[in-house]
Amino acid sequence: MLDLRSSKKRSLRPIWLDDKQDTVKIIDQRLLPHKLVIVDLKTVDDVITAIKDMYVRGAPLIGVTAAYGVYLCVLSLLKNPAGDDFIISECDRIKSTRPTAINLAWATDRVLKKVLSSTGIQGKILAARDEAGTITEEEVKNCRDIGIHGLEIIEKISRNKKNNTVNILTHCNAGWLACIEYGTATAPIYAAHEIGLDVHVWVDETRPLNQGARLTAWELGKRGVKHTIITDNAGGHLMQNGMVDIVIVGTDRTTYKGDVANKIGTYLKALAAKDNNIPFYVALPSSTFDWDTGTIKDMPIELRNPDEVRFVQGLDSDLIKSVLIAPKESPAANFAFDVTPSRLVTGFITERGICNAADISKLFPEKI
Ligand code: MRU
Repeated sequence: MLDLRSSKKRSLRPIWLDDKQDTVKIIDQRLLPHKLVIVDLKTVDDVITAIKDMYVRGAPLIGVTAAYGVYLCVLSLLKNPAGDDFIISECDRIKSTRPTAINLAWATDRVLKKVLSSTGIQGKILAARDEAGTITEEEVKNCRDIGIHGLEIIEKISRNKKNNTVNILTHCNAGWLACIEYGTATAPIYAAHEIGLDVHVWVDETRPLNQGARLTAWELGKRGVKHTIITDNAGGHLMQNGMVDIVIVGTDRTTYKGDVANKIGTYLKALAAKDNNIPFYVALPSSTFDWDTGTIKDMPIELRNPDEVRFVQGLDSDLIKSVLIAPKESPAANFAFDVTPSRLVTGFITERGICNAADISKLFPEKI
């Protein structure tokens, strides 16, 4: 099997438990790529702030952070004993931090279930820590397998192009920063790069928080993958002019019928891809499927602070600064996600293989 990255070469993860096992360490992604700052999470409130204010972001990572939030909650019972009702209400607080990424509730509930079925504080602590760790490693393996399956698609395009550069367009950050290791959308790209295929990535800047320009570009650069940052509106032009061979994006929630919630702007890329006959793939682990929701209108779309649109953040000399880019009095609206209907999606790259919307339930029969 393809070894995307040996354990010896394993680099930083965006989250880990410290050696004393009472603190969760995270990378503060708000400051990347300019500063690499590690932040300690010691309480449920710390976890809530980290998710809400996007120190951590990206569906799988939000899930893992929430899982460790449940662990920190149970750990706090050593100092302030409380019953299961308290744990359940703390889990509700964690789940209400962001609405769209379904991994948040999925991971919280999974750890909570283990905690509620364990007895004694020590038993609950062990159960929470083990389950949070298991979820983390499962997500790493899922992303690795997504890479292996997605590689086949890139290899085929490369063969058809007689080994010339494969141009891949991606939106937002669905890389290791969002997913612990490998990423979802980036896993096939890293796999292709690793076996020496000539790949180049068009990185949508992804306004307003610029996860593409700040995070995806940083990740790809660190791994030596050729890439170019483009404005969010450039993709259609590139597609019309034969400069994109494939679009691969991640997702924050996908219904079992294949409608895809992802960072705002994804829908427009899917429309342009359809119009230009360019394959549009969505890479996701099973934890990002919504097995209960079949319709687009039931997808919760996060509305964030309008100031994220009105201000932009960057490096000025050595200081990270936020500057106003709009008239002081103008209102702004900040829709964080949109939904791409399944008819625009060529295929879903999952840990179990690649399928179209109609076959999602065949790939995961036990979930429906
Ligand atoms: O608001 P964010 O940064 O948490 O949004 C999540 C994303 O980065 C994307 O929408 C991504 O494509 C899916 S998460 C792997």
